[in-house]
Amino acid sequence: MIGVFDSGFGGLLVLKEFLRLLPDYDYLYLGDNARIPYGTRSDEVVYRFTQQAVDYLFQQGCILIILACHTASSKALRRIQQQYLPVHYPDRRVLGVVIPTVEAALARSRQGRIGVIGTEGTVTSNSFAIELKKLEPATQVFQQACPLLVPIIEAGEQEWEGTDLILKRYLAPLNQAQVDTLILGCTHYSIVKSQIQSLLNHDLEIICSAEVTGVKLADYLKRHPEIETRLSRQGQRRYLTTDLTPGFQRLASLFMGHPIAPEIVEL
Ligand code: DGL
Repeated sequence: MIGVFDSGFGGLLVLKEFLRLLPDYDYLYLGDNARIPYGTRSDEVVYRFTQQAVDYLFQQGCILIILACHTASSKALRRIQQQYLPVHYPDRRVLGVVIPTVEAALARSRQGRIGVIGTEGTVTSNSFAIELKKLEPATQVFQQACPLLVPIIEAGEQEWEGTDLILKRYLAPLNQAQVDTLILGCTHYSIVKSQIQSLLNHDLEIICSAEVTGVKLADYLKRHPEIETRLSRQGQRRYLTTDLTPGFQRLASLFMGHPIAPEIVEL
């Protein structure tokens, strides 16, 4: 199976794109709804929660796990790849959303002025800036944390006029910096993509990780037959959650497009 992990529902957008492009594989989605948000938590806690989730998905038979959560990809992925996997699961893989998104942004940016919006955790980790500069050292990166966006979207208030005011404030420094490409560095932000687009004072490329990660996963599977041939292909989908929250089906429908049948698990 391919495991897809997120702190909550946002990763369903990433899963949806995998299902569209690579429908034959079996997928196991895990949303840590009991402990969302990850975006405000320390490095150590994000690492611990993510490692528990990865361990759980491996025990369920996943060979490959995608961390759809940008905060987990930013704060935990490297340590999981470098320290945890070699000792515990040397023949399995965990991938994230930061590098595929960075590659797509660099491919589309013309002047190398790239804006990144994300949770506080993602922005303070500097993960996007580090990876952008690793691949293209001359890139100028402008980052803005948007801590209010996840709660607004989860409360279903994205159409509220206050959301535009908040977005305007978050986007002002990026407008001022004249970025030519904007990375939506959080699972949730593509829900407000059109509002973001209308508040930017010039035309620019907007990169959503959900859109680019599907293409990159297809490419990864082609290049890694040692992983691909071990994946089961019966078109199965299972959805695990650590809490059945009151707004569960409303949020599942917002991100997935339809209600889902969850199984409750403890990590
Ligand atoms: N999934 C998180 C991310 O992409 C957003 C929600 C949270 O803060 O946990 O960064």
